[in-house]
Amino acid sequence: KCDVPEAQRFDCYPERDTVVTPELCGARGCCFLQSSQGGPPWCFYPPDFPSYALTTLNRTDLGFLGVLTRTTKAHYPKDVLELQLQVDLETDFRLHIKLTDPNNPRYEVPLEVPNATKKAQNPLYSLDFSRDPFGILVKRRGSGVVLLNTTVAPLIFADQFLQISTLLPSEFLYGLGEHRRGFLHHLDWTTLSFWARDVPPTESYNLYGAHPFYLSLEEAGSAHGVFLLNSNAMEVVLQPAPALTWRTVGGILDFYVFLGPDPSSVVQQYQQVIGFPSMPPFWGLGFHLCRWGYGSSNETWQTVKNMRNYLIPQDAQWNDIDYMEGSRDFTVDPEHFSTLPQLVMDLHKHGQYYVLILDPAISSSQTPGSYAPYDEGLRKGIFINNTHGQPLIGEVWPGLTAFPDFSNLETHQWWLENLNAFHARIPFDGLWIDMNEPSNFKDGSVDGCTSGELDNPPYKPAVLGGTLFAKTICTSAKQSLSSHYNLHNLYGLMEAKASASALIAIRGKRPFVISRSTFPSQGRYSGHWLGDNRSEWKDMYWSIPGLLNFNLFGIPLVGADICGFSGSTTEELCTRWMQLGAFYPFARNHNTKGEKAQDPVAFSPMARTAMKEALMTRYALLPYLYTLFHHAHHWGDTVARPLFFEFPQDTNTYALDRQFLWGRNLLVTPVLESGVDSVTGYFPRGLWYDYYTGSSLQSQGERVKLAAPLDHINVHIREGAVIPTQKPDITSWMSSGNPLLLVVALSQEGMAWGDLFWDDGESLNTFERGNYSYVVFNVSQNIFTSTVLHSNVEVIYITVDGLTVYGIQKQPQVVTVNGQEIPFSYLENQVLSMSGLNLNLNRSFSIKWI
Ligand code: NOJ
Repeated sequence: KCDVPEAQRFDCYPERDTVVTPELCGARGCCFLQSSQGGPPWCFYPPDFPSYALTTLNRTDLGFLGVLTRTTKAHYPKDVLELQLQVDLETDFRLHIKLTDPNNPRYEVPLEVPNATKKAQNPLYSLDFSRDPFGILVKRRGSGVVLLNTTVAPLIFADQFLQISTLLPSEFLYGLGEHRRGFLHHLDWTTLSFWARDVPPTESYNLYGAHPFYLSLEEAGSAHGVFLLNSNAMEVVLQPAPALTWRTVGGILDFYVFLGPDPSSVVQQYQQVIGFPSMPPFWGLGFHLCRWGYGSSNETWQTVKNMRNYLIPQDAQWNDIDYMEGSRDFTVDPEHFSTLPQLVMDLHKHGQYYVLILDPAISSSQTPGSYAPYDEGLRKGIFINNTHGQPLIGEVWPGLTAFPDFSNLETHQWWLENLNAFHARIPFDGLWIDMNEPSNFKDGSVDGCTSGELDNPPYKPAVLGGTLFAKTICTSAKQSLSSHYNLHNLYGLMEAKASASALIAIRGKRPFVISRSTFPSQGRYSGHWLGDNRSEWKDMYWSIPGLLNFNLFGIPLVGADICGFSGSTTEELCTRWMQLGAFYPFARNHNTKGEKAQDPVAFSPMARTAMKEALMTRYALLPYLYTLFHHAHHWGDTVARPLFFEFPQDTNTYALDRQFLWGRNLLVTPVLESGVDSVTGYFPRGLWYDYYTGSSLQSQGERVKLAAPLDHINVHIREGAVIPTQKPDITSWMSSGNPLLLVVALSQEGMAWGDLFWDDGESLNTFERGNYSYVVFNVSQNIFTSTVLHSNVEVIYITVDGLTVYGIQKQPQVVTVNGQEIPFSYLENQVLSMSGLNLNLNRSFSIKWI
């Protein structure tokens, strides 16, 4: 009965604090066979291990309702012997599988999810149930490929230990964050843990956020996704079968399966459940400058002035906790930051913006009557309590602190009132919410934690520090919605929600929030930065899988600290990183305290110029980037996109994470190592044009070596694209008034397509209210047409000044605009260009070359 191939052995003894012996293993009724260290589990389930049986299964309006029962107890306390299985065929491409305890209601994640009312008519999936032992099989109808097969290991559903395993159709697996790993997972007996944690990103650690969602590729480039809607501490075990095990310590098993069938649709379908990302303000896509350790507001101001002097694009200046008095939220250091209001006024005068940091932890040790945020918070009872009903006290930057309970709407009101009063002093434009795992310098609290089962669950997931309360608050702590045990992973999401809605109430404009901790649906309220990286080349590389993952997670506004946070950067590294960072959807240079300055002005004229050039390229591309964010907001598209999303048939793209696309058309190939002047990138089959020169590269699907001097980042346009660009300026406000230059990259058939979403860049819900313009560009048979599909002329006053067409093989004789002949130039590398067009973006037009 123990004759199970190694790759298919499922761990029966995952406890890491016990050395499993044949006796312990046998006591669980499992098989013990030694194998290589770090390989298959030595104690594994025999095929006949007792599990649940599906005792009844009835059809419902949406699918099935079944009862599962088990007669033998599993080896964890409070085993639930009877379960309800609900399977809803919600749409043709979405299946919802829910396992709950019908007799005792359990905690469920308070996320608004769509309510299906009608059963899918032509689902892309089919279902099979195994009765005893219970298992569920989900197949893709078209190909017959089995996407889920949970019969491979027993289902366990105890109060604090829930586990289910499935086979995977291939070894191509992505997602499952937040971790520092290559984009493509290796299924080599890895355990990934999910528990929000403040720690500099390190391989194998659980990091700041939790995203229990994966995307898996099948044969022939089809893809599906699986989301486990559960916020408890969790583990996912990957093994080469290929198979995956979900293990969580609470809540219910609530799965969504997305059938795609292409990778982009999987991510769209996922976001139909968790919510689409909000549209960022236009300025949020500009360049942001920050550091920890600006000594004063004047020093901060000087940085801004230096940037202006050198005409380097900058949209937002940030301050870290330095601005606060004693690191307390809603205070300003009266000595060193006395000119902060003037600095903010000056930023606004220059069309620039100010973002400040807030940590959730509120100082609890000030003299009563001297610090209103705490006094008021206490009075309103908005802090998280310990098990004695007193505010739980931990320690963060300001010393002893209490932690606001953002699961309570009263807390949102208190947060708003504090932000509002503070905004009257310092009219900030955006919020950086840090330390919201929540981070605590003490384990649990200053008084430790309880010995109860919430602080010491019978099974401890593989989280850093070994306990759930390591460097955070006690999991037994009480929040208004539930215990911290259940809500921990939602802390950053709930704070972001409170912060975004406060910003809307205060400024009446689109909120800009960047959060460190995140959970599914976060994109609705904030973006994310990848936390405390180091000024090292490998950290620069790690940022790319990070970007790609958060785009899968529906948080496209993401970036890493450009030039690295801790450690000291070098001129070469920072130049390369500013070039790569110019292509982060969210581009911010941030540095730790005590390290030397790493803003562009801090470097030699050569480096500074290269950095400026990269930012100018970003600013030129803002119309394209903004349009991608519109697609993300409206459809759930990715902004920074893995190559395989566009070329799912090309298996060479499956492991690529040193290059990425912006949308479908722009390929970024950064240099990620020192001392080189070239870079090799993979180019899927087709024609690719150098973004800057229009020179073309015909690839058969091959690796291509590209020149990459220190002042150059390689960017290529995919054939068939029209990219809207704009004359760059030193702020996005200035650029947004500049004329557009449309860049066409002709396909081999002489076709191209592109689009542009444009609005005032800051009002709320412009798309939903129709206050925008949407224009599509088309080229075929030597005619470029711009067609206005939606127009709101009041907000749009820009012109189209230039058109550049890459890939015109023969020099044209005549070029006409709306029938009128105009001058043009034609270069040897097959580039046709015309300028001075002065066409209104809100009127359709056509340009023809003969
Ligand atoms: C931790 C954040 O990750 C980092 O970016 C910030 O500079 C420090 N906290 C200080 O606020």
